[in-house]
Amino acid sequence: MSLRQTYRLWAPMYDVFLKPATRSARAKNLAQLGRLDGLNLAVIGIGSGLDLDWLRLHARPAQCIGLDITRAMLNKAQIRRRDCPFPLHLIEGDAMQTPLASGQFDYVVLHLILAVVPNPAAVLAEASRLLRPGGQILIFDKFLHPQQKAPLRRFISPLLGLLATRTDVEFEPLLAAHSELTCVRDEPLLARGWFRGITLQKHPINQHPINHHKD
Ligand SMILES: C[S@@+](CC[C@H](N)C(=O)[O-])C[C@H]1O[C@@H](n2cnc3c(N)ncnc32)[C@H](O)[C@@H]1O
Repeated sequence: MSLRQTYRLWAPMYDVFLKPATRSARAKNLAQLGRLDGLNLAVIGIGSGLDLDWLRLHARPAQCIGLDITRAMLNKAQIRRRDCPFPLHLIEGDAMQTPLASGQFDYVVLHLILAVVPNPAAVLAEASRLLRPGGQILIFDKFLHPQQKAPLRRFISPLLGLLATRTDVEFEPLLAAHSELTCVRDEPLLARGWFRGITLQKHPINQHPINHHKD
């Protein structure tokens, strides 16, 4: 069974479990976004659009693209789209190889997607490609540290990875492959730091600086 199929099964009950469990961590992470007026945002693996609940109350991007591989999840996001006060385009596609043009986004949001896909390195590379110089990638996900033993999470990961999400993904080796990205923030958000909020900035930071003032 593919992830697309499993998330089709998860779609009807996804919000019931994930909305309350991630609300505060999600809000805290999204609050890191600077002013979005006039800026372009991509939410990769947008799922049912839980991020939109926060974005529609706090942010006004010029344009937002939401991409996901599962039509049933996008259908849920489509319902939330009606309440969005900014242009939102929902696209069915693969986060590891998107149909989107390079360098067009000021921010790329990767919430609970890097640890889901079979090839997180491809998703991070794709996010970096989509980002313009000086832009930022905002990550919220669960990662092990390279030295962390976590035997149970490493043991069950192959099975869980087929059903919904991996539990053995390490962030540091992913980042090490990207000299064009600098980690400017890394903080524990949930489950005693297993879930982290991470901000990556694409070089050169001086070329097209983003306005980081908050409302
Ligand atoms: C755990 S959910 C996260 C959804 C949303 N980002 C959130 O924070 O609630 C993972 C999402 O990734 C999507 N997904 C899985 N593999 C994908 C892929 N290769 N490309 C795009 N989306 C994918 C699933 O359909 C699902 O909607």
